[in-house]
Amino acid sequence: MTDQELLDLARTAAGKAYVPYSHFPVGAALECADGTVFTGCNVENAAYGDTICAERCAVVKAVSEGHTDFVRIAVWGDSRGYCMPCGSCRQVLSEFSADLRVIAARGDGSFVAFPLRELLPHTFGF
Ligand code: THU
Repeated sequence: MTDQELLDLARTAAGKAYVPYSHFPVGAALECADGTVFTGCNVENAAYGDTICAERCAVVKAVSEGHTDFVRIAVWGDSRGYCMPCGSCRQVLSEFSADLRVIAARGDGSFVAFPLRELLPHTFGF
């Protein structure tokens, strides 16, 4: 699967976002080593801090289905800037794969890519 194809899945997943407060839909598509892809969207809550980001939604779906070997994640947000994973999502992703390829897109579909270790160096872990 190409980066563009993974990103298309992320953009489609954003269509399911529950965003009555921010009105900012985000979609993620997380690819596993065996080629399985789990998508996610942001799910907001009236208690704002309980909001779940699209990336963590995808991670939780994957782990709960027995997948922890992640190789790539694509993130799409309807923004002018590239929709980079927030700090919490970087930490959660780093739990499973420091070598993850992170693809971040903006509303017009253009994207950039980084290794996760560049986005979160010296990550916390036991
Ligand atoms: N959001 C994500 O889904 N992923 C990120 O990495 C950054 C932020 C969501 C959370 C909230 O629903 C909205 O974007 C605005 O912060």
